[in-house]
Amino acid sequence: MLYKTDRIKWCLSISLGLSAFIFLNSFRFANTSNLLEMQRSQTDSIDVKVDSILKIMTLEEKVGQMNQYNGFWDVTGPSPKDGNAAKKYEDIKSGRVGSMLTVRGVDQVREVQKLVVEESRLGIPLLIGFDVIHGYKTLSPIPLAEAASWDIEAIKKSAAVAASEAAASGINWTFAPMVDISRDPRWGRVMEGAGEDPYLGSKIARARVEGFQGKNLNAVNTIAATAKHFAAYGFAEAGKEYNKADIGTVTLHNMVLPPFKAANQAGVSTFMTGFNEFNGIPVTGSEYLLRDLLKNKWGFQGFVISDWASIEEMVTHGYARDKADAANKAVKAGVDMDMESSSFLDELIGLIQAGAVREELIDDAVRRILKVKFLLGLFDDPYKYCDVERELQTIGSEENRKAVLDMAKKSIVLLKNENNLLPLKKNGQKIAVIGPLADDSNSVLGSWRIASEDSSGVSIVEGLKQYKGNELIFKKGADLITNKPTFINELEFNTTDKSGFEEALSAAKAADVVIMVLGEHGFQSGEGRSRTQLDLPGVQQDLMEEVFKVNKNCVLVLNNGRPLAIEWADKHIPSIVEAWHLGTETGNAVAQVLYGDYNPSGKLPMTFPRNVAQIPIYYNHRNTGRPVDPQPGENMVFWSHYSDIENAPLFPFGYGLSYTSFNYSNLNVEKESYTVNEEVQISVELSNTGDYNGKEVVQLYIRDLFAKIVRPVRELKGFQLVKLKKGESKIIKFSLTSEELGFYDQDGNFTVEPGEFEIFVGTDSNASLKTRFLLKE
Ligand code: BGC
Repeated sequence: MLYKTDRIKWCLSISLGLSAFIFLNSFRFANTSNLLEMQRSQTDSIDVKVDSILKIMTLEEKVGQMNQYNGFWDVTGPSPKDGNAAKKYEDIKSGRVGSMLTVRGVDQVREVQKLVVEESRLGIPLLIGFDVIHGYKTLSPIPLAEAASWDIEAIKKSAAVAASEAAASGINWTFAPMVDISRDPRWGRVMEGAGEDPYLGSKIARARVEGFQGKNLNAVNTIAATAKHFAAYGFAEAGKEYNKADIGTVTLHNMVLPPFKAANQAGVSTFMTGFNEFNGIPVTGSEYLLRDLLKNKWGFQGFVISDWASIEEMVTHGYARDKADAANKAVKAGVDMDMESSSFLDELIGLIQAGAVREELIDDAVRRILKVKFLLGLFDDPYKYCDVERELQTIGSEENRKAVLDMAKKSIVLLKNENNLLPLKKNGQKIAVIGPLADDSNSVLGSWRIASEDSSGVSIVEGLKQYKGNELIFKKGADLITNKPTFINELEFNTTDKSGFEEALSAAKAADVVIMVLGEHGFQSGEGRSRTQLDLPGVQQDLMEEVFKVNKNCVLVLNNGRPLAIEWADKHIPSIVEAWHLGTETGNAVAQVLYGDYNPSGKLPMTFPRNVAQIPIYYNHRNTGRPVDPQPGENMVFWSHYSDIENAPLFPFGYGLSYTSFNYSNLNVEKESYTVNEEVQISVELSNTGDYNGKEVVQLYIRDLFAKIVRPVRELKGFQLVKLKKGESKIIKFSLTSEELGFYDQDGNFTVEPGEFEIFVGTDSNASLKTRFLLKE
């Protein structure tokens, strides 16, 4: 072990850049370093600092920066002696690791940072990455649910709360937001995204990046964000996890890429590749996506990380001959950091020595990585996220709980409310609460919540109990999961046991109103959770039908991480509330909505199909040559349809009700024609015609009637959240620019074509109020 002064001399002797040396050691030897030199180096631009460090790095140290390990041992415990953990431990100490993931908690992070800072030659601090997907310990609704709020400011705030808790726990980098557009609810990861629409998805992508990163990445309550999974992972064939994405370039450029582009424009620090292949090439090895498009065309300044072992998995795909070939292809494609597969660590030096990879590629990757470390302020203080006091005060604070409750209420979607069964009366009612999820404080947390404690959510029964004026009886009726639900194991939900039905039915019979809480367990969606059936799993459908037979005053509260096929419920159950997995405050949010203390305003960010075979079903599809719906009485088969089900979905994109009602009128476009450079001005009158104050998401869709490529039948191009008191009316204004009116052609070039456009404004993607205008050269 070298003493401090020895290390200084030793470092100096090998150092080619004095300022880099002083900079790197300023946090170690702050008292002994040359202050003048330090000040000078701090005012240098980050690029200069990065370059000066690069100059003193050995090739091995550079490659080390490109390596990320998953931490799985207790870092504050004894150092691991054997196996993989011991190797990782040694690698960290010798500067062969640039980042760790899933190490969390101030104590743990401090210890692991100490290993590099105090033991490695250059002491370059680690990036500490973590999947902060919808909150850290205090959980927000799952991202798909948050998207249902269409409330961009609230979503931004939710990401900021998540960032502040994660940062207080030592983390400086999140692997979020997932901005994958998906049209397939069979894919379990739709819960992690913003749904099917690229316009809404782009607004949300930007909001989440800004929420996580704040205005200043250097602040102690912000963290670096990641746009993932680049690209097309959400188009996994048949919704099967990790499957290839076989889409054309028009869909790639117009549907898949816009949210990534928005994240880049918002200054996202990193991009993550995916497990999928696109067009025959695993995206982790796609030079077209990563280098040509992302880094060159879009000018992305941050760095690209692979997905978990996705570099080495290119061998299994059959795209790389062996691990060395995989490392070679990934680094050339533009991957800068390898998550967990050690391919870069084990192979890059050999590849460079053999002349197969140019060292400039390594330099470029390391520059990008170091830059993010600088921006986070880790070189000023590698322990800046390691403040025990802050950790204690921030995590789980009252303020954070309030924020996630607010977000949870905003995420709820009212799908049906016949005879104004909702809101519930607050007094003198007998309420039966039935269903396996009703008193579950674990499932409500949703998937992807590694840092939160099991069962730390407020269950729906608990939430309802806050309203004391009614008598509440809870009977589960049946189980949903028959093994222990966790993030990593396959859930068993094929129970046939109906022995609990009887007591549930007698409770239902005696009640004025029945609330059934049914759906998917929180761990039934998420990574690795693709399904071929989207009805209510287990015996829940039977339970619902039996209950409905004895009491028609039923409210169905759905808990789910994806659109479900609930045609029977829609036909029979008078009131349906989409409550997703709303995180820590679920029960309180649901209760406040059911009792009318909060008037729901959420709108579906994804189409709900009638059955699985309609999938993919999405609102912004392109017309076939035979879209015609035959007139009643006309019996003809040669049009685009299924013989056994109607074309319309159960609930369209953008759909959601309120306890009040809204009327749209006077849709107006200011002029009949516009030139390409003008803004198209549109106005509409919105009136609250019901009995409650409420909020409405006013949605604007366009249709480009004729173009050089077929355009979707509708495209969302504007929305506004409008609050109206009962009886109140307002004129809502929109303006459209060429950015909204143009599209990407097959080659990915943005084009604005003159021609006729239709505009639709209304309450969902079926909006019937329409007008049109002409766009001229
Ligand atoms: C997922 C990523 C995630 C990573 C690290 C992978 O399995 O696909 O989205 O960030 O694991 O946990």
